[in-house]
Amino acid sequence: MSEKKSKKTVVSGIRPTGNLHLGNYFGAVRSFVKMQQDYHCYFFIADIHSLTTHPTPVNLQAGVKQVLAEYLACGIDPTLATIFIQSDVPEVVELYTFLNMNAYLGELERTTSFKDKARQNPDNVNAGLLTYPVLMAADIIIHKANFVPVGKDQEQNLEMARKFATRFNHMYNHRLFPLPKPFTFDGKDMVKVPGLDGSGKMGKSEGNGIYLVEDPADIRKKVMRAVTDSGPVEMNQLKPEPIQNLFTLMKIVSSPETVEFFEDKYNTCQIRYGDMKEQLAEDIIAFTTPIRTRILDIRNDEAYLAKVAREGAEKARASASATLAEVKKLIGLKCLF
Ligand code: TYM
Repeated sequence: MSEKKSKKTVVSGIRPTGNLHLGNYFGAVRSFVKMQQDYHCYFFIADIHSLTTHPTPVNLQAGVKQVLAEYLACGIDPTLATIFIQSDVPEVVELYTFLNMNAYLGELERTTSFKDKARQNPDNVNAGLLTYPVLMAADIIIHKANFVPVGKDQEQNLEMARKFATRFNHMYNHRLFPLPKPFTFDGKDMVKVPGLDGSGKMGKSEGNGIYLVEDPADIRKKVMRAVTDSGPVEMNQLKPEPIQNLFTLMKIVSSPETVEFFEDKYNTCQIRYGDMKEQLAEDIIAFTTPIRTRILDIRNDEAYLAKVAREGAEKARASASATLAEVKKLIGLKCLF
């Protein structure tokens, strides 16, 4: 069997809406780095998706370069994985158009992320936002992906991608697209990295991100400001959400011994949150510092970034156009002449 056949395919992307934070890293990018050896990987920068929130051209371009530099700084290797910019592969927009013909208003309107975004920004409920999961499905299935490493917040979008792929296969009575499955780093549940502001996930739009490129002094400040309470009053007391979030983050970046130490302090009502936060900040900084140094380095090498993007686009286009030709044939376009 050829190498292309024996290795499964992986696709994932990140919107260039700001610097990458710990949520992006632990929900997605660390899996990218892990998977690149064993799979055919396509990792891209979802610049078309980011247009739903109307960035300025200057911010958009800066965001694309930043995420590209951060991918590389995190250890994604362009000799192993195909790294590209979504808009460099126009075939995906063509497939998106075809998939839109079989995507229904009701199902798109019911999507949680659409409802959330429409509620948060009632003045910008655009059609791109409504069909966001269709473009995402096109991104994934155009490379016939088997696995998609993403965080928990993308679970429903991935379900939609499977639905649209299944629908296409049925409609044209041909198993063209494999059904893409989520991939998680440890083979367990999909990850949701919490914010330190009390509740919910860490996110760019939530304004609670701790960024890979962030200055250590700023990281310390953010962690020390994390929401806590006046402390447990009973042994082994259930942790309220803000406290649980501190522990969740600590489990991600600190050693098991450190987590156990503070669990023990919590369970015996001796915890000092100040000490815990100091430790957490130092462990985050120890983790981000080498990545930060590489980001600052690579970010200045525009020629290298351009080369990676150009070569990635070429490889991604080859794969996308091969699938698109099959799609058009099945649909009945381009068959007559
Ligand atoms: P985006 O740009 O919002 O996020 C990029 C990746 O980071 C993950 N993530 C998190 N994981 C865990 N905890 C968090 N707090 C957290 N915050 C973000 C996201 O789950 C995601 O994996 N729609 C996608 C981009 C996209 C895409 C695709 C992804 C477009 N096409 C095709 C996969 C395949 C998005 O907006 O991700």
